[in-house]
Amino acid sequence: MHILGIDVGGTGIKGAPINTETQEFLEDRFRVPTPKPAKPKDVVASIKEIIAHFNWTGPVGIGFPTVVKNGKAMAYSNMHKSWKGVQIDNLITKETGLDCTVINDADAAGLAEVYYGAGKDIKGLIAVITIGTGIGSGLFYNGKLIPNFELGHIRYKKKPIEKYAANSVRKEEELTYEKWAKRFNIFLKNVELMCTPDQYIIGGGISKHMEEFEGYLTTKIPIIPAQLKNHAGILGAALGYIDKNS
Ligand code: BGC
Repeated sequence: MHILGIDVGGTGIKGAPINTETQEFLEDRFRVPTPKPAKPKDVVASIKEIIAHFNWTGPVGIGFPTVVKNGKAMAYSNMHKSWKGVQIDNLITKETGLDCTVINDADAAGLAEVYYGAGKDIKGLIAVITIGTGIGSGLFYNGKLIPNFELGHIRYKKKPIEKYAANSVRKEEELTYEKWAKRFNIFLKNVELMCTPDQYIIGGGISKHMEEFEGYLTTKIPIIPAQLKNHAGILGAALGYIDKNS
């Protein structure tokens, strides 16, 4: 099936048409900056820009960076607060006339990694952790998604731990990889207090530099970088459409 996958992120909104049978990108991905503030009207305009760029008239699968239940934003995380309660899938369909499904962005990236990337042959409990503006998480048991695990919202120092250990914080506070890794290590240890994954898969831009920080992580759980890099979110968003409609 050909689906337009769109990955809505804290800094960029990226899309590409995907052949979900072959996981092939049918065209180069197209990116627009995330509007600031990221209010529904403006984000929808960016999504429409991506749809227009590809002259797309088929189904659309979206990965969205907050808790999404049956296409509805249950929270707003790093997006504008007016997203909370929005039935995103219906809004996009109303605005574009296209069939659309929406899932959490890290669940989407996880779907791509577990089906076709670093987690392909791994059984048991896999935690895919995406590190960017926030910390996203997709949990999978024997290849099946357990949706909306918000591990980045574990409380630490009275705040969601992503406000302490996300990649955006490393950049803002100009932390060395060592300093940042010690924070990320606290995150991993907290995850392990709640569940004991068999495997961590680390995604987001920083995973390209894993050799710079993995030496500072003391977790005993095997940890590997994601494989699909910045393709995971878009591919996973398209796979989310298949997942919801199968
Ligand atoms: C959100 C998650 C999202 C993650 C990565 C967090 O702030 O709460 O839903 O997956 O950021 O974008």
